[in-house]
Amino acid sequence: MHSCCARKIILWSLCLIFSLSYSMLVCASTPPKHLCRQDQRDALWEFKSEFHLRNMAANEKTQTWKNNSDCCSWDGITCDPKTGKVVELNLWSGSLNGPLRSSSGLFKLQYLQSLNLNSNNLAGTLPDSIGDLKYLKELSLSGCNLFGNLPSSLGNLSHLTLLDLDGNGFTGELPDSLGNLKQLTKLLLPSSKLSGKFPQVLLNLTELTAINLVSNQLEGTLPSNMSSLSKLEYFDVGSNSFSGFVPSSLITIPSLVHLSLERNHFNRLLEIGNISSPSKLKTLSLGGNRLSGPIPGFISKLVELSSLDLSFWDTLRGTVDFSVFLHLKSLMVLDISTLNTRSIVDMSLFSRFESLSLLSLSRNTVKFSSTLRIASPIGSLALASCNISEFPKFLQTQTSLVSLDISQNQIKGRVPAWLWRLPGLTYVDFYRNSFTGFDGPPDVLRRNEIEMLDISSNAFHGPFPLLPKSTTFLAASDNQFSGQIPTTICEMVSLEALVLSNNNFTGSIPRCFKNLNTKLSLLHLRNNSLSGNFPEESVSVGLVSLDVGRNKLSGELPKSLMNCARLEFLNVEGNMFNGTFPYWLRSLPDLQVLVLRSNKFHGPLLYSPPPRGSLISFPKLRIFDISRNILSGVLPVDYFSGWSTMSSGVYTPDNKQNRFIGITFNYRKAVVLATKGTEREFLGTSFSIYKIIDLSGNRFQGDIPKSISLLKELIVLNMSNNAFTGTIPPFLSNLTNLQSLDLSKNRLSSKIPPELGKLTFLAWMNFSYNKLEGPIPQGTQIQSQDSSSFLQNPGLCGPPLQKTCSGGGEEEDTRKQDHQEDEENDQVLSWIAAAIGFVPGVLCGLAIGHVLISYRQDWFKRIFQLT
Ligand SMILES: *[C@@H]1O[C@H](CO)[C@@H](O)[C@H](O)[C@H]1NC(C)=O
Ligand SMILES: *[C@@H]1O[C@H](CO)[C@@H](O)[C@H](O)[C@H]1NC(C)=O
Ligand SMILES: *[C@@H]1O[C@H](CO)[C@@H](O)[C@H](O)[C@H]1NC(C)=O
Ligand SMILES: *[C@@H]1O[C@H](CO)[C@@H](O)[C@H](O)[C@H]1NC(C)=O
Ligand SMILES: *[C@@H]1O[C@H](CO)[C@@H](O)[C@H](O)[C@H]1NC(C)=O
Ligand SMILES: *[C@@H]1O[C@H](CO)[C@@H](O)[C@H](O)[C@H]1NC(C)=O
Ligand SMILES: *[C@@H]1O[C@H](CO)[C@@H](O)[C@H](O)[C@H]1NC(C)=O
Ligand SMILES: *[C@@H]1O[C@H](CO)[C@@H](O)[C@H](O)[C@H]1NC(C)=O
Ligand SMILES: *[C@@H]1O[C@H](CO)[C@@H](O)[C@H](O)[C@H]1NC(C)=O
Ligand SMILES: *[C@@H]1O[C@H](CO)[C@@H](O)[C@H](O)[C@H]1NC(C)=O
Ligand SMILES: *[C@@H]1O[C@H](CO)[C@@H](O)[C@H](O)[C@H]1NC(C)=O
Repeated sequence: MHSCCARKIILWSLCLIFSLSYSMLVCASTPPKHLCRQDQRDALWEFKSEFHLRNMAANEKTQTWKNNSDCCSWDGITCDPKTGKVVELNLWSGSLNGPLRSSSGLFKLQYLQSLNLNSNNLAGTLPDSIGDLKYLKELSLSGCNLFGNLPSSLGNLSHLTLLDLDGNGFTGELPDSLGNLKQLTKLLLPSSKLSGKFPQVLLNLTELTAINLVSNQLEGTLPSNMSSLSKLEYFDVGSNSFSGFVPSSLITIPSLVHLSLERNHFNRLLEIGNISSPSKLKTLSLGGNRLSGPIPGFISKLVELSSLDLSFWDTLRGTVDFSVFLHLKSLMVLDISTLNTRSIVDMSLFSRFESLSLLSLSRNTVKFSSTLRIASPIGSLALASCNISEFPKFLQTQTSLVSLDISQNQIKGRVPAWLWRLPGLTYVDFYRNSFTGFDGPPDVLRRNEIEMLDISSNAFHGPFPLLPKSTTFLAASDNQFSGQIPTTICEMVSLEALVLSNNNFTGSIPRCFKNLNTKLSLLHLRNNSLSGNFPEESVSVGLVSLDVGRNKLSGELPKSLMNCARLEFLNVEGNMFNGTFPYWLRSLPDLQVLVLRSNKFHGPLLYSPPPRGSLISFPKLRIFDISRNILSGVLPVDYFSGWSTMSSGVYTPDNKQNRFIGITFNYRKAVVLATKGTEREFLGTSFSIYKIIDLSGNRFQGDIPKSISLLKELIVLNMSNNAFTGTIPPFLSNLTNLQSLDLSKNRLSSKIPPELGKLTFLAWMNFSYNKLEGPIPQGTQIQSQDSSSFLQNPGLCGPPLQKTCSGGGEEEDTRKQDHQEDEENDQVLSWIAAAIGFVPGVLCGLAIGHVLISYRQDWFKRIFQLT
């Protein structure tokens, strides 16, 4: 369509080159015309009848299967031309839906030599009966949603050459019976949940050319002598938990082309003496392990290498002779980021390469001269955290550049205009430098089709630049941009994430996001000086995360937020919103964090009568902070009923990742909340462990509602600074996970229930400034509190207070408390009197920050791992 597609194609083809996949291309031959055998047809028919086929999907291959026609002519069937036996069944992506039963008709197809059910939903286990298909040579069940253990009967398939079970959910160990598959050439079991050790028996499978166990949970060491696998070309056990030595005998297998051990815990790699026969190795990925010491010299002998990843090799501040890489003339991919070396990488080294396409030197010290020229057409360059203080001018001739990461350096001044003339530039990361502006005309950035631009944490100031309309992801937080957020932002029709927090933007929120698109899922405008209302037109229905905290916005929250069915995070803290409580948010199915703190929301939490369907209420909410508003009224007894996440403790993992241009980026949220009397920062992506309710600093009255005892997962409860009356209910002791309880500054009376002493995690509590009386209970947790937690209650006595319960020495205390009580009553009265109109000064503390980071680590590598 346009040049950006061309770029994607380039990326794709690079990706294909580097991940030399061994998945099989099954070339189906035309089925010969021959009447099939009755038993075979019955078996096929039976097999078909086992699935819930809707005969609708275009790809239902079994649709063409008709009783009373030659089964050898059916789609996906190949018969032996002489005998009419079905020898091949290929229902790849055939819309099969349902588990394979051990009595399935499939296992009656005794003569099958090739079975391919890839990409069907066989949600279930792989039955033992698979071992009955004893003539199978090729078995492909990738992406079938299979789970459970691998049946040991697989070992009965003694003719098997291909076993492809890629992308299922198998658990348990690899069965030792696999050692019987003497003919096996390809063992493909990546992306499951297999555990245990690397099976020694595989060493007996001397025909193996490919072993792929990527992304499992395997551990232990690899066998020390792997030389029996003398035909091995492809070995990939990346993203497991293997440790110990990298066996030299593996690296020296002469036929080996692709070797990946990345993202494990390997910690030793021995220097290999002279490599006897010339190595065929094209890919060597050792990155992300715990390897340390000098980089072994034999690497310079691997002259066929096109891809080398040594990232996170810890040289222990040693020196590295980077010229060893000069021997590797065919290198296309070189990742030597994070070597912990005191050597400086001189970029001129790379002027000698001709085909480098991906180069990552991040987190090493890098130098280059202003006259440097690099001949290789680099597509992706990562120079993050390289102590660079000058813009790399050599990029001027890098017309193939797609992706540039120069984040976390010390580059000052203006971004040169020529950068935006590089035709393919798509991903640009300037995070954490000292850039002040953009050279060139105001529309300089529009000369390109940037999809991802991160200029956050720099010193950009003045009005916001005109951005390319193609931008999908834009982070410009932590700068000093001022003026209005330009309405040109409304022309960016691809926008999915916009982060402009911590600037000095004024004016109102642009009124266009509603119409812009439905993809905008992240909108963070926190800590600016935006004012006026939050208009309905500014709400994109696709929002997942919205943070407009710490601005000067007023009025009501836009009701259209109710339509944002994917909303998980909503923070409007520290504004002047003066509407009523947005009770209508309670039906949002995914809302996890709701922070209205420090505004002027007023009125009761719930209107009576309660809306219909009130049984479902904030089903996923974990953090509910409505503190420091003017909310009032009595909380209905069942107010907290239906808050299922806080009551059930069933953790529903957050598997919806935000995907931006095919790149998964995670943003971490930093939440600062008052807990245990101090403000503390919470970091995370989902806050699954934090269950917090903060109602403090409002004007709530009446009893503490009974339904709060349902929230068994609650960790922090703050109800202080309200006008709650009645007793402290003993059922609070049902909140067994509670760590912090603040009931101070209310009008609670009677005794502290001794049951609270049972709450073993309750480390912090505050009952001060109430009307409590009687002895303080004896529980260890209660007794370990400071006496200040009990102050200013007229009749409370016993340790840790000085006042003893038998009387005496209490006169002074009582006088002081009476005085305090009057003051408190005044305060409560003034709230009631001032129903509308009077607003106490908003003391806004730092509440919630919502910070975008961390997607950038290994950003560039991910681009090349899109599959
Ligand atoms: C298929 O046809 C055979 C006769 O040709 C019949 O006996 C059998 O019941 C049929 N099966 C189904 C499922 O219709
Ligand atoms: C098939 O495998 C199972 C389990 O490993 C075994 O008990 C059985 O004897 C095998 N059958 C044949 C025919 O090898
Ligand atoms: C390899 O096979 C031989 C005989 O076929 C057997 O004795 C040996 O135990 C097997 N080795 C492993 C590790 O399974
Ligand atoms: C490794 O195993 C092979 C046979 O598989 C054997 O010939 C060789 O001697 C062994 N090497 C070592 C060092 O044990
Ligand atoms: C490797 O070979 C060179 C000569 O080609 C020789 O000088 C050196 O000693 C050998 N090293 C080892 C460890 O065998
Ligand atoms: C980083 O660069 C500055 C000058 O740009 C230099 O003074 C400093 O020594 C460098 N730091 C390291 C660790 O190389
Ligand atoms: C708010 O933004 C300003 C820049 O406009 C920054 O200096 C300040 O640190 C930010 N405050 C917080 C709490 O992030
Ligand atoms: C923000 O802008 C206002 C005027 O637009 C100015 O008075 C104020 O000093 C600016 N604040 C910062 C931190 O730059
Ligand atoms: C909210 O504030 C706006 C602007 O300050 C004001 O016009 C409006 O009357 C207020 N609404 C309420 C309900 O207090
Ligand atoms: C409860 O909230 C009040 C006011 O919002 C705050 O001062 C106090 O520190 C909080 N209590 C705890 C235990 O964090
Ligand atoms: C508190 O828990 C106890 C026992 O687990 C139960 O009997 C009681 O009904 C609960 N109380 C409330 C108010 O949920």
